[in-house]
Amino acid sequence: MPRYAQSSINEVSRRTSLSDVVSGYVKLKRNGTNYVGLCPFHKEKTGSFHVDEDKQLFYCFGCGAGGNVYDFIMRAENLDFVDALQFLAQRAGVTLEEERGTSKEKREEDSDRRRRILEMNRLAARHFYENLSTSGAEHARAYMERRGLSKRTAIKFGVGFAADGWDDLLNFLKESGYTQEEIVTAGLAVKNEKGRIYDKFRNRLMFPIIDVRGNVIAFGGRALQEGDPAKYMNSPETPVFHKGRNLFALNLAKSVGAKNGLILVEGYMDVIALYQAGIENVVAGLGTALTEEQARLLKRYAAQVYVCYDSDEAGQKAAQKAIGLLTEAGNTVKVISYQGAKDPDEYIQKKGVESFKALLSDSKESLEYQLLRLRQRYDIYDVSQKISFLTEAAKILAEIDSEMTREVYIKRLAAETDISTESIKTEISKLIYYKQKKKTRKEIYAENRTERLDTGFTAAVQQQSIATYKAERLLLNLLFFHRRVYEVMAERVESEWFTGAIHKSLLSKIMAYRAGEEEADASAFLVTLTDEQEKQTAASVLYESFVGEAVQAAKEAAEKLETAFLKKRAGELVREGKVKEANEILQRTKGRRG
Ligand code: GTP
Ligand code: MN
Repeated sequence: MPRYAQSSINEVSRRTSLSDVVSGYVKLKRNGTNYVGLCPFHKEKTGSFHVDEDKQLFYCFGCGAGGNVYDFIMRAENLDFVDALQFLAQRAGVTLEEERGTSKEKREEDSDRRRRILEMNRLAARHFYENLSTSGAEHARAYMERRGLSKRTAIKFGVGFAADGWDDLLNFLKESGYTQEEIVTAGLAVKNEKGRIYDKFRNRLMFPIIDVRGNVIAFGGRALQEGDPAKYMNSPETPVFHKGRNLFALNLAKSVGAKNGLILVEGYMDVIALYQAGIENVVAGLGTALTEEQARLLKRYAAQVYVCYDSDEAGQKAAQKAIGLLTEAGNTVKVISYQGAKDPDEYIQKKGVESFKALLSDSKESLEYQLLRLRQRYDIYDVSQKISFLTEAAKILAEIDSEMTREVYIKRLAAETDISTESIKTEISKLIYYKQKKKTRKEIYAENRTERLDTGFTAAVQQQSIATYKAERLLLNLLFFHRRVYEVMAERVESEWFTGAIHKSLLSKIMAYRAGEEEADASAFLVTLTDEQEKQTAASVLYESFVGEAVQAAKEAAEKLETAFLKKRAGELVREGKVKEANEILQRTKGRRG
């Protein structure tokens, strides 16, 4: 991956207008000096997506997505930073200059390493494929036959066989000129504690995982004996493979998917069976629960997603989660449900493809599916169960944005349960009200996530009031945008006043930025942040525009934070039995706000 010179990045930024770029994706309306539109990153009916052209920042008050023009393109086009930069450079007519010096060499080394892993994967896939015709693979061929996998499909998916031994692939790759270390880095071999290196995949049916550009990026290997403790073994994360960012068979499904929508199933074998039956727009996750990135990837390749998970309880639970993520990411979601088979593969084998196609055209809107599923769990002729059912149904309906859709379902529920539409509406309104109220709290917790991961729910996090949280954000914002605030406050502000790890870290980065830069360029500052969570927080903090006497406001915010900090400190001292010291500290907070 090339590393580009900062001057080139600046040139692209200078020649790019954020609102211009965003307009290619979102219909923007002017709103004072800013723009507003429907957020492209989550589903909504009223515009929460704001663009500040002066600051070159966007921020969605609905889902919290925010950042500069690079962040926007990274999300919208599902690209990494370098690809987004290239995309925008081309758009702006800027030729990117590569950075000179040692880091360029390192980049070249990295890209060389990635290229070699991809080559190795391709060779491995071919080797596995050739293994299938050897005499040692008789049981593997028998297994494929038992599963009804035709030779043609096997070739299409590049199915192969990892030999039953410790070093079949290892030796082959070494002979092809790769070092043991490289083979381990590629996830094709593993090293045990004693330093012994051996094949990762042994005696397994191998499914190559191929990205949309046709690169073999990883493998999934299925055990050939029932009762193997690991039914599937997947490649670990490697320099070329990130489970959460790819989907199995998207390379094969994407063209039909663009037209007919994509069917999302759980298993590799489900994909393969449907494909063999002529349904080619099918993809699966990679052995983990669906991720946000995968949900966005689906959105990018299809207008409609059909969720068709396993029929058991675990599958249905996972489907619920996937529906939530997919909807959040702005997908239109339908659900294919079926009975009499554990998964789509078995369904096709038992009932044939025509029957599956009928399921497909009978598929329900995800909302309808969720309500139906709920309904099956309750006996509504029992009063208390009827109430539980309605309470749960109200929760589902409170999550949707469209008044009209909600109305339709409220009427239906009312008819079904013989409860007035008014009562159901009241229940839903209550839930929506609480949800709004909870949102602010949730934002606070989200931003303190790193801290929570370290220490659990620390007392500090629990006690952190909304007021302190807001004061921290205001102070960060003012320090960044107002030179005068920085000059007056730089020496006074203490990192220990700030409660979250992210706010603390932002404080020190803003200080460092301010020490070096005369002009406050929020978009350029965001480029320097690499932690995703930190970047989101920075975007939401910097998006705010303060109107008024900045220095005065900064002083007040600082005082509030210091007071809160001192009170907390005094509390700790009291608990340690140091009442005198505690009182001295409290004296200092007298007459102060906070
Ligand atoms: P069959 O049982 O052969 O029909 O496989 P399947 O493709 O239907 O898989 P299943 O529905 O049981 O599981 C869904 C997906 O979860 C698989 O395709 C794998 O990606 C993953 N998976 C299943 N079992 C394991 C396991 O033991 N380890 C890991 N890492 N992943 C698994
Ligand atoms: Mn299966």
